[in-house]
Amino acid sequence: MRKAVVIGLGIGMAHAAGYMESPDADLHGVCDLIPERTSRMGGTFESGSMLCLKPLFTKNQLAGKWEKAGVKVYPDMASVLSDPEVDIVSICTPDYLHLNHLKLAMKAGKDILLEKPVGIDIMAAEALSAEVSAYPGALGIGYEFRLNPAILKMRELVLSGEVGPIEGFSLYHFRTPFRRDKWNSWIQKREYSGGLIIEETCHWFDLARYITGKEVESLHCLTTGGVHQDFDFEDIAYINGTFKERGILQISHSLTGFDFSLQLCLHGQKGTVWCGLKEENYSSLDGGASDHIGIVSFGKPGMSPADARIWKWGKEATEPQNIRDLVKEFAARSAQNVPQRASWEDGCQSLRLSVKALESARLGKIVKT
Ligand SMILES: NC(=O)c1ccc[n+]([C@@H]2O[C@H](COP(=O)([O-])OP(=O)(O)OC[C@H]3O[C@@H](n4cnc5c(N)ncnc54)[C@H](O)[C@@H]3O)[C@@H](O)[C@H]2O)c1
Repeated sequence: MRKAVVIGLGIGMAHAAGYMESPDADLHGVCDLIPERTSRMGGTFESGSMLCLKPLFTKNQLAGKWEKAGVKVYPDMASVLSDPEVDIVSICTPDYLHLNHLKLAMKAGKDILLEKPVGIDIMAAEALSAEVSAYPGALGIGYEFRLNPAILKMRELVLSGEVGPIEGFSLYHFRTPFRRDKWNSWIQKREYSGGLIIEETCHWFDLARYITGKEVESLHCLTTGGVHQDFDFEDIAYINGTFKERGILQISHSLTGFDFSLQLCLHGQKGTVWCGLKEENYSSLDGGASDHIGIVSFGKPGMSPADARIWKWGKEATEPQNIRDLVKEFAARSAQNVPQRASWEDGCQSLRLSVKALESARLGKIVKT
């Protein structure tokens, strides 16, 4: 069995859960700089961090030590990368460290699952592209929304031709602020996270490309940042744009919420697909009324709601599940040497679009991508 090590135990806990369930790789080790996170399997959750990932583990696992579960604790990244027993590493460290950690992992010849965004500096990422293209090992990027069953249904409706040529794509994301308990508060500073648009809107640019199969041609972005004064970047971004050849897009993203709502709408010449995703069964945004996590509905313009086709999902449409599924898929695909669902080029393109959106906001005008 191939051996995987998770570096960084925040969201990395979902990676650990993925390798523990994988038939293609074992969770061989973990590595982190925070002693609390490596001293016990449940250490990450002690400080209230990443509580949504807790259900991926049993109570006994969380109470026990990593070593008791047969998982080695590495003192630092160098000891992981120099261990010839390690085949796979998941890099789950803060955004500004990704490119350097990717370089080190490639130098060590490991198969690599790199969390998004690929970095915060597009020029530095592009400078690495030739080396990545020539790299013989596997490299996947942590865009787990590509595995969300509701997103896959939207994509299936596009690929089957039922939606027809796409005229518009819109995405609305309303969420609570980023957690403030990250290592060294890295996420609150643009210097380390790139800000809202690089840190998280990169997911939505990735979905716009993945669902529609189209490339973005131009962007116009407006931002404001007055709600969370301890974050030195925008906390609301409204972005409009055009796709190459045909179609328009719109992304509205805010950290100003008290709940989680992700809504997507795809307007095709033959039909419209609507998708709503929540984080928990209970949501104030639907009056606390429904027991689903994800819904997709599809109909022709002007049709009655009763005639729409509807699909619903439960926990399988949540982010922790999707990350665990992505890790399992990465392990399987790297064992079979087949391409990953999100490639380095996909990671660079979503970072490039995020950087272009920021440029548009700074210049106050439309930018070509
Ligand atoms: N795919 C997703 O939806 C998703 C969700 C959350 C976070 N992320 C990404 O995951 C990454 C980590 O975010 P997080 O929320 O877990 O942050 P976090 O601060 O909670 O965890 C990062 C961990 O990395 C560790 N670390 C830093 N440098 C290290 C080093 N040199 N060696 C070993 N460990 C080191 C820190 O000690 C910390 O525990 C970010 O890039 C973030 O964008 C992705």
